[in-house]
Amino acid sequence: MNALLNRSQKLLTESEKHPSALLLELCGLLQAEVPHYDWVGFYFRNGNKEELKLGPYVGDPTDHTIIPFGKGICGQVAVSNSNFVVPDVKAQDNYIACSIHVKAEIVVPIFVGGENIGQIDIDSETADPFTDADIELLEGVAAAVATLLESQGISDPAAEL
Ligand code: SME
Repeated sequence: MNALLNRSQKLLTESEKHPSALLLELCGLLQAEVPHYDWVGFYFRNGNKEELKLGPYVGDPTDHTIIPFGKGICGQVAVSNSNFVVPDVKAQDNYIACSIHVKAEIVVPIFVGGENIGQIDIDSETADPFTDADIELLEGVAAAVATLLESQGISDPAAEL
């Protein structure tokens, strides 16, 4: 996973490309390299609204382009500011199903200037697949995305990406 984090960090420094293209490529890289990553995407806080807006993603299209804070796994991470690892989505009451094939989910927040501005969301069709290695990878990726947004002066990623 360390090599994949290095590749992810390197990809995000290809500054001739638009950040939204870089984030889409990053989703594709993670999905291609990790067998248990089936849907990989970003949600960002939607301006001043208490909701998340879908950003770049790879995987099956989802109807959930807007998620209110507090709703589903993603909405809960928007208010908890903590990673959320779900080994079995069926065991969750507050869960928004995107596909009947999804068995597990992990959501890791992205902080810019100490503020939770969005998150990386991964759905898996494998049961209970996530370990500390996924958390380490995705926290590293989230930090690299935060650095990209800061360096590009993107203060409202939901509107700009
Ligand atoms: N399952 C998420 C909704 C987003 S989809 O996974 C793409 C949730 O419960 O918040």
